[in-house]
This record gives sequence, C-alpha cells and structure tokens, in this order.
Amino acid sequence: MRPPHAALLLLFILAYFRGAYSSGSQSRFTSIISFGDSFADTGNLVMWADPVLPGLLLKNLPYGETFFGHPTGRATNGRLVLDFVAEALGLPSVPPYLAKESNFSTGVNFAVVGAPALTLTYLQGQNLTVNPPINSSLYDQLLWFQKLKPSLCKGQGADCFRSSLFVMGEFGANDYRSFLLSNRTVEQATTYVPQIVDSISQGLEILIQYGAKYIIVPDIFPLGCVPTVLTKLASPNKADYYRNGCLKSANRLGRYHNSLLRQRIKLLRHKYPHAKIIAAEYYRPVLAFLDMPGHFRLNSSTTLLTCCGAGGPPYNYDFDSECGRPGVMTCADPSQALQWDGFHLTESAYKAVADGWLHGLLICLVFL
Ligand SMILES: *[C@@H]1O[C@H](CO)[C@@H](O)[C@H](O)[C@H]1NC(C)=O
Ligand SMILES: *[C@@H]1O[C@H](CO)[C@@H](O)[C@H](O)[C@H]1NC(C)=O
Ligand SMILES: *[C@@H]1O[C@H](CO)[C@@H](O)[C@H](O)[C@H]1NC(C)=O
Ligand SMILES: *[C@@H]1O[C@H](CO)[C@@H](O)[C@H](O)[C@H]1NC(C)=O
Ligand SMILES: *[C@@H]1O[C@H](CO)[C@@H](O)[C@H](O)[C@H]1NC(C)=O
Repeated sequence: MRPPHAALLLLFILAYFRGAYSSGSQSRFTSIISFGDSFADTGNLVMWADPVLPGLLLKNLPYGETFFGHPTGRATNGRLVLDFVAEALGLPSVPPYLAKESNFSTGVNFAVVGAPALTLTYLQGQNLTVNPPINSSLYDQLLWFQKLKPSLCKGQGADCFRSSLFVMGEFGANDYRSFLLSNRTVEQATTYVPQIVDSISQGLEILIQYGAKYIIVPDIFPLGCVPTVLTKLASPNKADYYRNGCLKSANRLGRYHNSLLRQRIKLLRHKYPHAKIIAAEYYRPVLAFLDMPGHFRLNSSTTLLTCCGAGGPPYNYDFDSECGRPGVMTCADPSQALQWDGFHLTESAYKAVADGWLHGLLICLVFL
C-alpha cells in the first residue's frame, strides 16, 4: 500500500483534533503554564511597572487597539501566539502571575516583557544595559513557579501537571538585544549563545523534574529582520543583507541559537523519554512572511516598516519616537503589517505563527 497522501494525513489529524478538543471537559489540556518575554507576556510587566517603572510606553494606546481596544500589557496591537493557542485548546487567556487575585486553575503566565535567559546580575556584570533593569529572567520566573506550585497542586497527586501544557519561551532575544543595543558586535554576542541555550535547557530540566509532561519550546525569530536591529546595525554595504532585506550577521546569530537549542531538545528527549518536548518556530514563519507576504495577506511593500513608529522608510523606526509616545502614528492597516513596534510582530503575524504551532502540537499528540 502506498503511504497516505499528505492531504489525507492532514484531514486525519484535523479530525483527531476536533475529537480531542470539541468538548471542553474532554480536552487533553486543562491548563497552560507559560514562561517567556514580550512574545508571551499577557500583563506582568505593566503590573510590575507601578510605581517602579514610570512612563512605560506599553501602557499606552495603540498597544492593544486592534483586538482588546485598550492596552493590556501585551507588546502588540492585539493577541499573542499564546492567546491563539489557549483559544484553540478551549482555555481562557493565560492570566499573568502578578494579577494576584487571579484563579490560576486554568493556567498561569510568568512571562515578562524584556525578560532575558541570563540573570540581570550576570548581564549587568558584563557591563550591558538591560532594559527594563528588573529581576525577571528565566531563573526568576522559575522561582515564582516554585513558590506557586504548592497552591497549583493542592489536593492533587504527584502527577499534578499531567494535563498541563507548558510553554518555555521564547528566551534569548532580549539577551541578544542587550548586547546589540549596548554597542557589542554580533560576533561578541555570538560567544554567549551556548550559555544562553544552557540556561534554557536547565530551565526545561527543572520543569520536567517538577512534573511537566508536555512542553512547547519556541525558537527565536530572525533578529536581522526586525527594525530595531536593522536600524542599530545599518550598513552601507549591500552584501551585508539578504535579498529580503534582513541582515545576514544577525540572522546567523539567530540560526546558531536555534540550532544549539534543537540539539539540546534532542538530548533532553533521550534523557526524559516520558516527557513530550515539542519544538516550535518563530524563525521560519517570519522568513515565510517576508518571502511570501501575499500568502499571509500581508502588504509586501511594508514588511520591514514598523507599523507603529516614525521616521519613514526603510524601517519607519526611530529610537527616540517609539510606539506609545504621543504623536507616534499607527499604519493605515495593521492587519496587513508584519512589524508592530520595531521589535515585536503584529497580531496578524502572531496568528499565522500560532497556526503553525497548533499543527505541530497535533502531530506530536497523534504520533509521538
Ligand atoms: C477557580 O476556578 C475553577 C474553575 O473555574 C473553580 O472550580 C475553582 O473553585 C476556582 N477556585 C477558586 C479558589 O476560586
Ligand atoms: C566592565 O567595566 C568595568 C569598568 O570599566 C571593567 O573594569 C570591567 O572589566 C568590565 N567588565 C567586563 C566583563 O567587560
Ligand atoms: C536582583 O537580584 C539580585 C540578586 O538577588 C539583587 O542583588 C539585586 O538587587 C536585584 N536587582 C533588582 C533591580 O531588583
Ligand atoms: C552606543 O553608541 C552610541 C553611538 O556611539 C552612543 O550614543 C550610545 O550611548 C552607546 N550606547 C551604549 C549603551 O553604550
Ligand atoms: C500597501 O502599502 C502601500 C504603502 O503604504 C500602500 O500604498 C498600498 O495601498 C498598500 N496596499 C494595499 C493592498 O493595501
């Protein structure tokens, strides 16, 4: 017999998906526990911000304007990948840990905008400027989890996370941002990649030892394709860029990080065969958005332009006129834009990324 056609296989997966998730009570996952940075924060930094970090731009419109109609602490115009994943699993949006009055029975989000994989003390010890300068790293988020765990598991057996979906990351983008915005070269930043990936890998081991069974581990987006980095590392030499306009050196840094991360995930799968560690991608989807914008209903003439920014082409990005400042305008149609504020993507882009993750999650649940 010939192997089933790919389209049939997909139909089978979708049928399984509907069966598995159609009724809320039957859902395989009853909670989502998330760690990460601005790609996953659903409100922690803004709750932290008062009164420690006055003037946080994230608290202003047009953040949140497209979906929520007001700023929520998410670093985009609407929903994040995590929101679309929660929705697909029939779960409410994952509440931020710092929303103390929350009921965390369906999940908790420890992600903080700006959070690095390495600690604040370490990065500052390397003479780097860390923004915001708070203890919100992967390590700090794990401490929060450790503190909350007894209440999450109250009245349950040792297998208390058997139906929890963990999401670890992405982490790393803010470490590299700190290096580049502190005037280090891409080559200097590259020497820290093994350490940064180690920290993520150690975090995964801790989660598994705490009983995590399903963990999604996202990679990092192509750093050389976002306006902040394109502006900071602008070069007069055309050979420094790919045809899609991204910077080769910064993308190489991202690829190196992602390849080491994949190797670690492989090792962990061997070491902990009972855990399902699911790799998820930002890197390839973002390149696909740039190469085939029409396929994703994005406007091909604005893929490298910051939607909420100032300064005009080529990137519409100005470090002194960032999104959220008075007078900084939003583009005409954010639903067709890829870049939201210079470092983060739009809701449209996150939705397309989430579709890819959900597909990967299903394949994992059906076949692994
Ligand atoms: C939290 O919510 C769940 C489901 O919505 C409910 O069963 C539970 O009693 C709530 N817990 C508290 C402490 O309110
Ligand atoms: C940081 O700067 C201080 C003071 O300039 C210097 O003594 C130290 O060696 C630097 N540390 C690193 C890791 O570069
Ligand atoms: C971060 O944590 C370190 C180590 O616990 C501490 O020394 C430092 O003061 C903290 N920094 C901030 C800004 O809270
Ligand atoms: C990086 O260099 C720019 C231009 O030389 C300078 O204005 C800026 O203060 C430097 N930033 C840091 C963090 O050293
Ligand atoms: C794409 O963006 C350009 C530049 O902002 C604009 O002129 C054009 O009308 C947009 N195309 C569509 C289909 O909206």
